[in-house]
Amino acid sequence: MTNVTSEQLTAALADLQDPETGRNMVQQGQIRDIASTAEGVRLTLALTSHSSPLRDETRREVEQAVRAKFPDVKKVEILPAVHERPPMPLGELGLTAKSVIAVGSGKGGVGKSTIASGIAYGLLRAGCKVGLLDADIYGPSIPHLLGLRGKAELTDERKIRPHELEGLKVMSIGFMVEPDQPVILRGPMLHGAIQQMLRDTAWGPLDYLIIDMPPGTGDIALSLSQMLPLTGAVVVCTPQDVALLDAVKAVAMFRKVNIPVLGMVENMSYFLCPDNGKRYDIFGTGGAKRKAEQLNVPFLGEVPINIQIRVNGDEGKIAGNFTNAETAPFFEGIVQALAQQLRQTMRATKPLPTLSILN
Ligand SMILES: Nc1ncnc2c1ncn2[C@@H]1O[C@H](COP(=O)(O)OP(=O)(O)OP(=O)(O)O)[C@@H](O)[C@H]1O
Ligand SMILES: [Mg+2]
Repeated sequence: MTNVTSEQLTAALADLQDPETGRNMVQQGQIRDIASTAEGVRLTLALTSHSSPLRDETRREVEQAVRAKFPDVKKVEILPAVHERPPMPLGELGLTAKSVIAVGSGKGGVGKSTIASGIAYGLLRAGCKVGLLDADIYGPSIPHLLGLRGKAELTDERKIRPHELEGLKVMSIGFMVEPDQPVILRGPMLHGAIQQMLRDTAWGPLDYLIIDMPPGTGDIALSLSQMLPLTGAVVVCTPQDVALLDAVKAVAMFRKVNIPVLGMVENMSYFLCPDNGKRYDIFGTGGAKRKAEQLNVPFLGEVPINIQIRVNGDEGKIAGNFTNAETAPFFEGIVQALAQQLRQTMRATKPLPTLSILN
């Protein structure tokens, strides 16, 4: 037997916070069954699906907390478990989600939809329950990028059934109109269309709803901020000066409508030539990172220009960005950085009081 009691172990783990709520994980029963064994220590760590991108990191923190206090312990065995904590309805639209994140930019064509769908798919791959809303009413590109076709159907409860990609729930105006038909709506109808997609889609309980914003997002951002409490926004830009100017405006715009900016992503950062392995900084380099620092916004990562990303987009194979060894680290890095950022935001705000009935 290891010479440590479970009371001592419990005390060593008492400061660890749940990544989702910032609450004490021992008190919440998320760290439990703490015991010393013949080889060392064993315990169960239960995390919610919302926290699954941070699972490995949290395991490491638990192990470190044990080893810091008891350096002689040989083995720290952590058994994984799922902690159920269903999302609450957000605002008055009946959407049940824990985090709602808008992905926008000031400029068109910088890769918002590619990054938004990459974030959604990456969170799904990590084990989260995810929805993706295409808020680009005039130019919905999510159906094409994800290879989803066909009109949306109604459920028995007369809600709109979202299209699904490996469990990712996707809604777009593109599922309501014929693919080649333009969408003609006046300003107030735009607001109504987004409201309807948020309210009347059978999203089910979500950990994350990712919203792909149209370019020049002012009015849609304002509408969204009035419809439901957004967790925050991700601003996508390319490294050249004109695009960065627009990104600065986008950050200011989100702040103006009280949507916190969670971070900036630089897309099309450089081109790695497959023929000679040389790097070409087509739009300049490092601009977004510097700009993010100036604006006091976290930098979440970069994605180079890669032919496969464009091909995957054209062929509707978003999964390819995660299975291709050249592109996967960039997309995964952004998902990780975003999850970390959400966790830090949680730590910066006061943790909710511990109510055992709500758990
Ligand atoms: N890093 C990249 N490498 C290569 N191609 C890319 C990259 N990012 C995006 N693309 C391609 O660029 C095009 C525009 O991307 P996307 O539709 O994501 O931009 P957007 O900002 O959403 O555009 P819009 O303003 O029209 O909504 C697509 O064909 C996409 O596949
Ligand atoms: Mg787009």
